[in-house]
Amino acid sequence: LSLAAENGTKAIIRQPGRTLRSSAWFDCRSDPGMTAIYMERYFNYGITREELMSGKPMIGIAQTGSDIAPCNRHHIELSKRVREGIRTAGGIAFEFPTHPIQETSRRPTATLDRNLAYLSMVEVLTGYFLDGVVMLTGCDKTTPACLMAAATVNIPAICLNVGPMLNGYSEGALAGAGTVLWKGRELYATGEIDDGEFMDYISRGTPSVGHCNTMGTASTMNALAEALGMALPGSAAIPAAYRHRGQCAYETGKQIVEMVESDRKPSDLMTREAFENAIVANAAFGGSTNAPIHLLAIAQHVGVELSMDDWDTLGSQIPLLLNMMPSGEYLGEEYFRAGGLPAIMAELLDVGKIHGDVLTCNGKTMAQNVRGKHSWDRRVIRPYDDPLMKEAGFIHLKGTLFDSAIMKTCVISPAFRERYLSNPEDPMAFEGSVMVFDGPEEYHSKVEHLPEIDDKTILVMRGVGPLGYPGAAEVQGVDALFCIGDGRQSGTSGSPSILNASPEAAAGGNLAILRNGDKLRIDLPKRRVDILISDEELQERRKEMLSKEYPLVPSATPWQEIFRQETNQLSDGMVLRKAVKYQRLAQQN
Ligand code: FES
Ligand code: MG
Repeated sequence: LSLAAENGTKAIIRQPGRTLRSSAWFDCRSDPGMTAIYMERYFNYGITREELMSGKPMIGIAQTGSDIAPCNRHHIELSKRVREGIRTAGGIAFEFPTHPIQETSRRPTATLDRNLAYLSMVEVLTGYFLDGVVMLTGCDKTTPACLMAAATVNIPAICLNVGPMLNGYSEGALAGAGTVLWKGRELYATGEIDDGEFMDYISRGTPSVGHCNTMGTASTMNALAEALGMALPGSAAIPAAYRHRGQCAYETGKQIVEMVESDRKPSDLMTREAFENAIVANAAFGGSTNAPIHLLAIAQHVGVELSMDDWDTLGSQIPLLLNMMPSGEYLGEEYFRAGGLPAIMAELLDVGKIHGDVLTCNGKTMAQNVRGKHSWDRRVIRPYDDPLMKEAGFIHLKGTLFDSAIMKTCVISPAFRERYLSNPEDPMAFEGSVMVFDGPEEYHSKVEHLPEIDDKTILVMRGVGPLGYPGAAEVQGVDALFCIGDGRQSGTSGSPSILNASPEAAAGGNLAILRNGDKLRIDLPKRRVDILISDEELQERRKEMLSKEYPLVPSATPWQEIFRQETNQLSDGMVLRKAVKYQRLAQQN
């Protein structure tokens, strides 16, 4: 990795006559009275009048790491290097905390906090004197929350990922964070290990600082930030504990100052073409099913048209190139050493699957950043014409059960794919009967001891969408069974699941009218899921459903109630409806 060499020593020159946003606070020529008020309180940590009035770029560092957000905690160290980079390039750093989000321990869901962190960051970026911001990303929802805020406010912004943990090992075999958990639960459920062994077992997945070392939602969203041009090329995959990570933090600090001087904003980078690149890249690296939700949210805030259909049209035919858990064998360290995202983008560029001419944060195009950066480890990153799996992207399903749901095809077993997805000579629709679970609690209490399932059973998880379970719960499927849900699923799991069904049961979707034993037809080649009941019966049941109030879990906090009033569905990115009209705030405030 040669970030330093590439981003090196370019002199940064501001356009003559251009003043920065921060001058409205600290340039006392316009209003000395107000400047005095703005400035006075900053002196108390030792910053000087000279610095504040220097006209230099004032750069925010959005700190997402803390003791309760351990995935991102290493940013407390890294931000020091970011500061040094900012100083070196002629800027002044102002670190501030963001609302913490930790994926696995936040009850009821961490996604609930994505929009809350977004809202608070919009206020900080709009209300203070910042000219640009370095967003310290990592754990699943921290990255989209930051990118959504940058999209709305539109000040120059760049992501610095905390980086994945080092590889975990269990008895000599690679053990990934997240995936080791599902495996451990199986061993525990079958009585092969006891409580203590279970806790030992899962700890092997987390050997160092950093975010999950699998291609779960954290690795996915940070790779997508890079694919969108919002992070330095090659930066997303660097393991948290490697020295390159600190060097990258320094380079990122330097880069943001250059971005401010050049006035390179999120809206210049996150164009429709950049989102198309991200969708294609996501298929090639086997990204998480949370990616469509978050990318749609970011797109809406920056004002780019994007839909769930785009995921199928642009992504479903793309082959899987990255051999990383959960769809492959390796973890973050191999991914990094094989070349990281640039090596994947280089393959996609060669065959014309991505737009090479989109601008990225360092002022160069995607093509300039990635051309020729092919992998030197073909076990980990495969050539485009010799992939791990063909047609590996998401498919987008519709039908009488829902208007929109997503399926990640690269984690489905080969037998399943062969049978139901990819045999064009003999396309086969699956018919089975449903077993319905209302909410994750019911599912978890029953799923391990289900007597009456067979290979024609379809598990249906409802009441776990944004309204049903505030923020939308992640519920894991079962390896060999179709599972349909109005919630989400961890990016680290691998069952044939149809997810993010919208509208959810609690919003009047037809998942709510299903009864145990109802038959469904799942036709993946036709992208449809239909309820096999007559039209009259369907209308009858809908009438009955709409006459009753959906049994919602009560909101437990003020934010849960506000969230439920304001959110749209997973198929629309689960954004706050009212927030979308606020765009380009830095250009207005
Ligand atoms: Fe935070 Fe995986 S739980 S990165
Ligand atoms: Mg996750």
